[in-house]
Amino acid sequence: MRNKKTNDQLEPTVFVIFGGAGDLTWRKLVPALFDLSRDRSMPADFSVIAVDRVDLSDEKLRRRLHDGVKKFSRQGKVKTGEWDEFARHIHYQQGDFKNLRTYTALGEQCAKREKEWGAKAHRIFYMATPPSMFGEIPGYLGKAGLARDPEWARIVVEKPIGYDLKSARALNAILAANFDESQIFRIDHYLGKETVQNILAFRFANPLFEPIWNRRYVDYVTITAAEEVGVEHRGGYYDHAGALRDMVQNHLMQLLCLVAMEPMVSFNADEIRNKKVDVLHAVRPIPRGAVQQCVVRGQYGRGTLHGKKMRGYRREDDVSSHSKTETFAALKLFVDNWRWQGVPFYLRTGKRLPRQFSEVAIQFRTVPHQSFPPESNRDWTPSRLVLSIQPEEGIVMGFQAKYPGPKMLLRPVEMRFTYQDSFAVPSPEAYETLLWDVMNNDPTLFMRADQVEAAWQILMPVLGAWAKSTPRDFPNYAAGSWGPKAADELLAREGHAWRPIA
Ligand code: BG6
Repeated sequence: MRNKKTNDQLEPTVFVIFGGAGDLTWRKLVPALFDLSRDRSMPADFSVIAVDRVDLSDEKLRRRLHDGVKKFSRQGKVKTGEWDEFARHIHYQQGDFKNLRTYTALGEQCAKREKEWGAKAHRIFYMATPPSMFGEIPGYLGKAGLARDPEWARIVVEKPIGYDLKSARALNAILAANFDESQIFRIDHYLGKETVQNILAFRFANPLFEPIWNRRYVDYVTITAAEEVGVEHRGGYYDHAGALRDMVQNHLMQLLCLVAMEPMVSFNADEIRNKKVDVLHAVRPIPRGAVQQCVVRGQYGRGTLHGKKMRGYRREDDVSSHSKTETFAALKLFVDNWRWQGVPFYLRTGKRLPRQFSEVAIQFRTVPHQSFPPESNRDWTPSRLVLSIQPEEGIVMGFQAKYPGPKMLLRPVEMRFTYQDSFAVPSPEAYETLLWDVMNNDPTLFMRADQVEAAWQILMPVLGAWAKSTPRDFPNYAAGSWGPKAADELLAREGHAWRPIA
């Protein structure tokens, strides 16, 4: 990872956002750029060119983006003066993504800015469009000569990166035909979260846990990303994707890599990414015939969440009334290497669950010999370390302690670190960190082509088996419940359990 520059060291930059009138720009990208600018982390000379097909003026676009910033900026209230100062950097360009003229016009816009600033500018091309455009835009950028300069041109690709291994390879090939891998920034916004980055800090800045971070001491690991939300306004996309493609292929696989990887030799982007991809290569292939034993899929039906009635997935907007798309997935994986041989990694994600939280729980083995009298450990729970990603941000170590009194009674207790209590500064939003890294040309927190493909490779047997069979029991969990029973049984068969959540 490179040392980050301050705003007066950052060189002039033009952000070109394809899909500039879309939801991601409104909800995430512009609020993040605004927050960076408020923190004085934008270069003095920068410009945001929003490109889209609809007919809009600069003024109309700015008004819409102002509304997004008011709703989603991390810093809360937006002072009019601050917004006006920021908004003057934003411009709209109407254009068809499949017309070379759009790109030549963009080139002219960039050149115009450079002339005004009297300096060469970095050009960051952000694909915030529907995925169907991902395969088109890089080629046009290439043809228009906008991709050529590896030091000055970058492309940012949002997920989903492909729909399966074949399409991911095809997309990577299109990107590689026009850009050098060093110019390509594939976003997985989980990697921008402070608590996700903290997994590396915790594991490799503290020698304490390394000796026990292996099969001899760890019994099993659970990785959960639970959401209360349903599919909201994204039914059209989601019904085509499902939980495995939407969350497991990217966010959960990245968490698995960070938890299971070997120590990096240096904090160099490729060194870290090499260590992560080693984990994916070591994941034991799921035999096509054994998908049902290792993977559970679920879809929510109607139910109640926080006292409110929820409709079932098949009744959501833009979702087929016969949909067989999964809104829940749980998997059991093994990492076949010396460190992790035989240790199950259970991954789980779902929508419309009772509580929103993401965490990694490391369940340590129990003591090799019970020397306490049987009545002392009624509540026996072996030590467990929980890396809380969100909404709690921190780490909790659970262990046994002596209960006060004349008898030797053992009770589970917790040692807790929270970001809120320990650091008096707010955490940046993931997109702020990631956009800042793109400006700094630092790819550490971005996915390389081989990582994306290795993650797809793991899931292909599951996608193949699911495509062939109709889940007759769908919907198989009620909105507001913890998912299908089979997801608990997946662990119970081995004497394991998901960490109970109050
Ligand atoms: C996105 C998925 O990548 O991550 C969404 O497409 C999901 O379906 C979201 O809701 C979760 O991210 P976060 O940061 O809100 O936990």
